[in-house]
Amino acid sequence: MPGNDVSIHGEWSSRWAFVLAATGSAVGLGNIWKFPYITGENGGGAFVLVYLISIGLIGIPIMMAEVMLGRRGRLSPINTMRKLAKAGGHSRHWQWLGWAGVLTGFLILSYYSVIAGWALSYTVRAATGEFTGADAGTIKNIFTDFISSPLALLGWHTLFIVMTMVIVSRGVRGGLEKAVKLLMPALFILLVLLVGFAINTGAFSRGVEFLFYPDFARIGWNGILIAMGHAFFTLSLGMGSIMVYGSYLPKNISIAKTTFLIAGADTLVALMAGMVIFPIVFANDLQAGSGPGLIFQTLPIAFGHMWGGLFFGTLFFILLVFAAWTSAISLIEPAVAWLVENHNMTRRKASVVAGFVTWFVGIGTVLSFNLADNIRLFGKTFFDLLDYLTANILLPLGGLIMAIFATWVLSTKSSVSELELGEGLKYSLWFYLVKFVAPIAVLVVFLNVINVINL
Ligand code: PFF
Repeated sequence: MPGNDVSIHGEWSSRWAFVLAATGSAVGLGNIWKFPYITGENGGGAFVLVYLISIGLIGIPIMMAEVMLGRRGRLSPINTMRKLAKAGGHSRHWQWLGWAGVLTGFLILSYYSVIAGWALSYTVRAATGEFTGADAGTIKNIFTDFISSPLALLGWHTLFIVMTMVIVSRGVRGGLEKAVKLLMPALFILLVLLVGFAINTGAFSRGVEFLFYPDFARIGWNGILIAMGHAFFTLSLGMGSIMVYGSYLPKNISIAKTTFLIAGADTLVALMAGMVIFPIVFANDLQAGSGPGLIFQTLPIAFGHMWGGLFFGTLFFILLVFAAWTSAISLIEPAVAWLVENHNMTRRKASVVAGFVTWFVGIGTVLSFNLADNIRLFGKTFFDLLDYLTANILLPLGGLIMAIFATWVLSTKSSVSELELGEGLKYSLWFYLVKFVAPIAVLVVFLNVINVINL
């Protein structure tokens, strides 16, 4: 019977190991690179409020559903979906959800790794004093020169993929668990230090006001939808990362409590990143809405001029690399687990195969910033297209299908026994949020997408 056995890939040694690993997956470039710039572009407080509501009403309930499916199936997402569907006498086509997740993971990691490579390069630049005393123009030139060099981007992208493969090949207990146990607490301490720094910039209250004072005149319907879509990306929902981590979760652990902890930690890190970045932006007269280059084009100016900038700048980019690393591991894990199960590969070989495919696709993103930046599909570069396709379409679609499977297909008996919320109010709240509220909200996202491209 599903749910009683142990994953062939091993199990987390404790509840904390799972919490740390899943938090490591959730906290990444999405929190530190993407959240601040989309908040900046969409006017601040009101956007943040909608994002927080989306996390509460859609993200947390779907996350519980995804962890639940993983623990019930105990296999890679592809085989978990096949097993659960079969056990309930349903179509084996549900396994396509797992396949879509593997594909989405490859696609996200392929560009995620390139951006993480920027962070690697900026760690070295910060540490060697390249930003010291540099003005906005110089910093912009450093960034433009850097991204216009395919070889430099390729080199850092390659290094980041290799780093990811090394950890993934060591497996659940040896690799993932040890890495996150060390990296996550370090990340948190570094952020606390940086918030301490931001308090002394002189613009802390302005930054905090921008982040938390909701001015509804500054957010449109589109901004609301971007905030909702980001809830999926930031919590790693909709592609099987959280499902595969859930499959390593021992039976006696409360899914609801752990999910609240993970989502809480993820949200805290994003808000802290905002509290670090916006005061620095305002104290230096930088633009909050300067787009995806916000961190790379503006923060070095601050680091270059502030007291201890060499130290804090280096710390900041190390932190960004750590965060991206623990997310990257989870992006490739569904594919690696499947290769081990179905192709009888060692983890090491599976990691190399999966890593190579991702690396290869990543070349497209590398070139989209330089040699191929004029090649457009639907008006977007390869990188923009991948980001758009994954964040706005594939993740919400995956989340929608998981929500449907968990509440319309899987028996209530299964979810009652797996979630252990009893059969009262708490369970009903989860059930109706996942059955109706979340799918309808996701459909609203899609309607907007269709509207934007005028179908
Ligand atoms: N949640 C990660 C971040 O915020 O950077 C990105 C991510 C990881 C998205 C894993 C999706 C995923 F399955």
